Amino acid sequence: MNKDIESVLVSEFQIEHIVHSLATQIQKDYANTDFVMIGLLKGSISFMSDLMKCIDLNFSVDFMTVSSYGAGVESSGNVKIVRDLTSSIKDKEVLVVEDIIDSGNTLAFVCSYLVSKGAKRVRVVTMCDKPSRRKVEFAPDYKGITVPDKFIVGYGMDYAEKYRNLPYIGILRSSVYM
Ligand code: IMP
Ligand code: MG
Repeated sequence: MNKDIESVLVSEFQIEHIVHSLATQIQKDYANTDFVMIGLLKGSISFMSDLMKCIDLNFSVDFMTVSSYGAGVESSGNVKIVRDLTSSIKDKEVLVVEDIIDSGNTLAFVCSYLVSKGAKRVRVVTMCDKPSRRKVEFAPDYKGITVPDKFIVGYGMDYAEKYRNLPYIGILRSSVYM
């Protein structure tokens, strides 16, 4: 295990199980629906890559990069679009894929942005949810796992751009960022 990880919160094996269960629900809900899956970069890379392969439907894929964090462990609350969508979502069903919901600022902003761009309906799937940290009310439509109020990394999630490559989700030692 990486020396900066205090403990493994979700193992590779558990991740696989969670992803399959989310994909099954999504496949059922989106059957016969033309939809676009929108990944929020960079945190959603591992989750979206696994999830999309488990959904046997015809859908398109796009990405957005939004930022609110800077290099620290606290959201600034000031969400900005760094990279926008590449195609129109007007009158489309949208499924946003996120790594983790913390304050809720990012998804509250992204969902209202997508609605303002004409999306017919916006739903959200997140691998992790940290509801104890909410600053704005936000509930995902699909969630993998509720996590404690700890800073976690791996499976796409970073601290200062590192640890995204870990195949598991782990709790980062506080000595790394204190
Ligand atoms: P929110 O806007 O506060 O909900 O934050 C959402 C974004 O912050 C997520 O997309 C993550 O990229 C990042 N984030 C929040 N909590 C964590 C964490 O524990 N580890 C890594 N990234 C996190
Ligand atoms: Mg993210």
